[in-house]
Amino acid sequence: MRQELPREQFVEALMPEDQLSMEQIDVLLGAAVAAPSMHNTQPWRFEVNGTVIDVFVDGSRALPAEDPTGRAMRIAAGAAIFNLRCAAAALHYDSWYGLVPDPADLDLVGRIVLQPTDSPNRELRELFDQIPRRHTSREPVRPVKVPTDSRVALTRAAMAENAELSWLPPDQVHEVLGLLIDTDLREIGDWHRRAERAHWVGGDRAVDGIPSSVLGPKSAVYPAPVRDLGTKPADQTRARTTFEADPVLAVLSTAGDSLAEQVAAGLGLQHSLLVATRDGLKAAFLNQPLEFDDLRRKVQRITGKPGYAQMVIRFGHSTVRATTPRRPVSAFVHTGSEEQS
Ligand SMILES: Cc1cc2nc3c(=O)[nH]c(=O)nc-3n(C[C@H](O)[C@H](O)[C@H](O)COP(=O)(O)O)c2cc1C
Repeated sequence: MRQELPREQFVEALMPEDQLSMEQIDVLLGAAVAAPSMHNTQPWRFEVNGTVIDVFVDGSRALPAEDPTGRAMRIAAGAAIFNLRCAAAALHYDSWYGLVPDPADLDLVGRIVLQPTDSPNRELRELFDQIPRRHTSREPVRPVKVPTDSRVALTRAAMAENAELSWLPPDQVHEVLGLLIDTDLREIGDWHRRAERAHWVGGDRAVDGIPSSVLGPKSAVYPAPVRDLGTKPADQTRARTTFEADPVLAVLSTAGDSLAEQVAAGLGLQHSLLVATRDGLKAAFLNQPLEFDDLRRKVQRITGKPGYAQMVIRFGHSTVRATTPRRPVSAFVHTGSEEQS
């Protein structure tokens, strides 16, 4: 699946002749911005020149208390790049990409080059249909097993993007749940983190952030297999329910932790989330331990494998829909034609 652009082609692509129409840009970027992002900050922007799309992280939408290094922003940008590739295939384009940590512009995380084709990548084209159906679900899941076939397909999807998905056996699941207590204790005295979350989470949200309506119920047991992101008093009094006692958790990791590998984790995340959606699975995230370096190392150690944990994902079957808003595409995009006019 990973297609690195040969250097000569990459340079040629900097002087594109073809132009994407505004309708095509709408489809491509509409798909990109449907990607998940921490607290739904949508921390990305795009520059379209001919058939080249540059993807940047948007530092004005950073989370300095909870994501001081910008790792979560790069994961979100990687997920947006994967969606872009799916949309490109749906529009009959091949897409090559380079994950380019450019020392001159560290905000530039990826360049995607499109080329018309009669035979677009079939898997990407099919996954395009899953983009509007995918959303994070913090609801209890049905007591149905995640079939082995789905686990294999999700693992392969992550692997195709140079990431690894490790499914945790029950003992390891409970070790990870134990780390959630550590993170909660650390957070109690950290008003920066709580204030940042209150800024992005809760209430009615028209274009970004997480509305109260998708927080899911509170858990009757502690620690819960979904993260309770509620900070506002009204969110603290929402209904309680019983979640599954044996959650299905997987850790997404990368071999190293370079900027490009964090972006690749985002591609791996989105590839596996879209395959999960196709298989009727919903995902939620328990990333709070990954926001502390020592606990992040512990999570990786729990998997028994080398590497760097990037996401802790809980999978399950649920039919509840929970959609979050997005800013309009026009808020993210800058096109070469704007410069000329
Ligand atoms: C890097 C990253 C970290 C995230 N961490 C969490 C988390 O710890 N808990 C959680 O419930 N959701 C988490 N999310 C999910 C976002 O809240 C979600 O993607 C966003 O609100 C948009 O909603 P959607 O996924 O339904 O489109 C994370 C997403 C990303 C990309």
